[in-house]
Amino acid sequence: MLDLTSFETPHHPRSHVNSLVRLHNPFTEDQRLEAAIKAGWNVFQFPSEMLCGGDLLSDSGTTTMTTEQFSALVLGDESYGSNWGYFQLLETIGETFGIDTDEWEIYLFHQARAAEHALFTHIAGEDLIVPANSFFDTTRANAEANKIDARDLVCQNFNDDPDYPFKGNLDIDALGQLLEEHCEQIPLVISTITNNTGGGQPVSMENIRATRALCDAHGIPFFLDACRFAENAWFIKEREEGYADKSVAAIAKEELSFCDGFTISFKKDGLANMGGALAIRKDSRLTERYPDIFDALRDHQILVEGHPTYGGLSGRDIMTITVGLQTVIKEEYLKGRIGQVYEFGAYLKKLGIPVIEPFGGHAVYIDMDRFFEGTSMEKGDFGGISLTALLLLKGVRLCELGAFAFGTYDPGTENETFPPRNFVRAAVPRNKYEIQDLYYVADCIKGLYDQRDSIPKAVPVWGKDKALRHFKARFELVPQSHNAAVKQYASAVS
Ligand SMILES: Cc1ncc(COP(=O)(O)O)c(C=O)c1O
Repeated sequence: MLDLTSFETPHHPRSHVNSLVRLHNPFTEDQRLEAAIKAGWNVFQFPSEMLCGGDLLSDSGTTTMTTEQFSALVLGDESYGSNWGYFQLLETIGETFGIDTDEWEIYLFHQARAAEHALFTHIAGEDLIVPANSFFDTTRANAEANKIDARDLVCQNFNDDPDYPFKGNLDIDALGQLLEEHCEQIPLVISTITNNTGGGQPVSMENIRATRALCDAHGIPFFLDACRFAENAWFIKEREEGYADKSVAAIAKEELSFCDGFTISFKKDGLANMGGALAIRKDSRLTERYPDIFDALRDHQILVEGHPTYGGLSGRDIMTITVGLQTVIKEEYLKGRIGQVYEFGAYLKKLGIPVIEPFGGHAVYIDMDRFFEGTSMEKGDFGGISLTALLLLKGVRLCELGAFAFGTYDPGTENETFPPRNFVRAAVPRNKYEIQDLYYVADCIKGLYDQRDSIPKAVPVWGKDKALRHFKARFELVPQSHNAAVKQYASAVS
């Protein structure tokens, strides 16, 4: 019998920070069960105030802002055009990324996906391919919505070598071959730093440099998805030969020096709750192929976001990003941040949970194929969805990024396809939790791991044929075929 009450942890009672809700923890497991059923066991639909155990759904926009950011927020200038904060932000972007902002077009958006949407809309065309180490889910969806073939080319070391320090790298040989064969179809190449979909793994400077060199050889623009540029720079300092004595600030500038343009979500390494941008060098190769792109992007921005000097952001948001960018490259901050994720990962590993190593910068990824090894759970039973669904009952939220999120269903053939990797991600919000909160999350995962035989399958009852289906689908939980002991869940959801 699957027992959700028996795995309270040695770390209880844990200290609660940052959340009055958690101080009071007013919800019972029965109330959570009712809410989970109402949400169709979809973690995105589950009310966040019930997550008193730890909300590790995403590290994006979930940052607790610093006192400096809250102070700056009060100085937000809400003028309709050319607000003071915009110029502060431009200056900070220039300093942080080592760019002369007069030589770049910089477009503010309310989120990175809006920036990606603008970029892909204006480069759309027949038979285009955009290669990347890995696309984030909404980045891929934005490319595909514009009929662009978004091609993941993550390095082979990902599977082969558990200790490889830069598993986020782009596969340079595969890119070279693709450029040889399809150069005309490729408007740009992207490297995502760190590589979120690929396990939150960093990309080495050597790999960024080699990608740039290949792009140069074929006259193709090179873009970065720079959402976690500072965490990536930290890993380069820690792991790449020749960088130990360089500052993270200098490494971040070097990363950016290779690109013709970048998209960024300030909800990650901007340490802000909202914000994104698209930046393109004025003399980049992109303009050779798309001479009107800057006008088109400016019009797009005004039509859907607002005046260029605020994008979709309020003046106070802009101030918080400005200060966030100044903080995020501080090494004492990054040491604590990445150190905490590491400690969480090491504890999960100690408990025997099959985690991806090395641990990512913003998250620890659990390998669902190994988690359910030896049970009757098959890929198409979406065990990762079941794990995240049951954790809701403990007030804990993680995110399935595997067989369901990145798989597809063809209603014509009734075929499911599965991605090569099958993860559940525990993303750690910045500046929000204490390590003992993360221990609690880990102990809850362990409680279910010990009963993995009894974890029910997740059967999608709505939405499995939809794009971005993990945000929208509804599920029922039914027992693994050989095990009748979980009928309690089947009856609870029927
Ligand atoms: C690598 C990467 N790119 C793009 C995005 C999209 O950013 P936003 O949520 O601001 O649209 C994310 C969000 O998590 C991401 O991780």
